[in-house]
Amino acid sequence: MKTILCAKSVHKVYGTNDHLYRALEDINLEISEGEFIGIMGPSGAGKTTLLNIFSTIDTPSSGEIIIADQNIIAMEEEQLSDFRRNKLGFIFQDYNLLDTLTVKENILLPLALSKVPAKEIEKRVQEMADTFGIREILDKYPYQISGGQKQRTAASRAIVTNPSLILADEPTGALDSKSATSLLENLAALNKQNKSTIMMVTHDAFAASFCQRIVLIKDGCVFSELHKKQHSRERFFQEIIAALSSFGGSDS
Ligand SMILES: Nc1ncnc2c1ncn2[C@@H]1O[C@H](COP(=O)(O)OP(=O)(O)OP(=O)(O)O)[C@@H](O)[C@H]1O
Ligand SMILES: [Mg+2]
Repeated sequence: MKTILCAKSVHKVYGTNDHLYRALEDINLEISEGEFIGIMGPSGAGKTTLLNIFSTIDTPSSGEIIIADQNIIAMEEEQLSDFRRNKLGFIFQDYNLLDTLTVKENILLPLALSKVPAKEIEKRVQEMADTFGIREILDKYPYQISGGQKQRTAASRAIVTNPSLILADEPTGALDSKSATSLLENLAALNKQNKSTIMMVTHDAFAASFCQRIVLIKDGCVFSELHKKQHSRERFFQEIIAALSSFGGSDS
């Protein structure tokens, strides 16, 4: 299986000389193409820091990171913005939709920026709308739709470019359980059918149980890993709960 992301000895220190804070210490992680990986750990463990570094939004203090065969540490800002647009997809807790654009315009924006032909754009948007069940709301504005619909719009926008890696930080954090389940089922289906690679930060064991592998982070270090074997999501959920309680609290 091809490696999509390889991180070696990643460290992140915040602050100045008198007030140093080690947010990440010696993180080593490989993600294979087609994996659905979850990152869990207590509040302040360094999950968002790690995701932001992989997103190229933040830079590590030291270490190596290769994503889709490219060394992201060595890239200039201009290269990085192309890289982000072409290779990465983002889903945030608070959706980050543009309020002045319709659902459809929000979804097609990354394709328009990459100058994809109009016909191809239309085809891709319709595919996304079908995948995420949002055909009826394509002409609505973000203020006219529910939180769950906003997050499915945001997920469509993240995925419409066929990114090498989809990065999601607490994508279900603001959703009720029904909307959360629907989004997670969509992401799991996309991962299975399109072999999309997804890395999702979550503090929620239910959300995490949709992943194939969970990396547990504590105090900036990888603490342990859990693998979903042949068995059911329900059983993986129980394993995750047990692992979380063994390192102090199941929630952040
Ligand atoms: N810009 C920053 N400057 C200084 N310290 C920071 C900065 N960003 C994060 N930190 C610190 O680094 C640590 C890790 O933060 P991070 O946001 O990665 O945690 P997290 O695991 O995502 O937590 P949560 O579950 O609450 O979202 C925290 O102690 C935080 O206070
Ligand atoms: Mg966080």
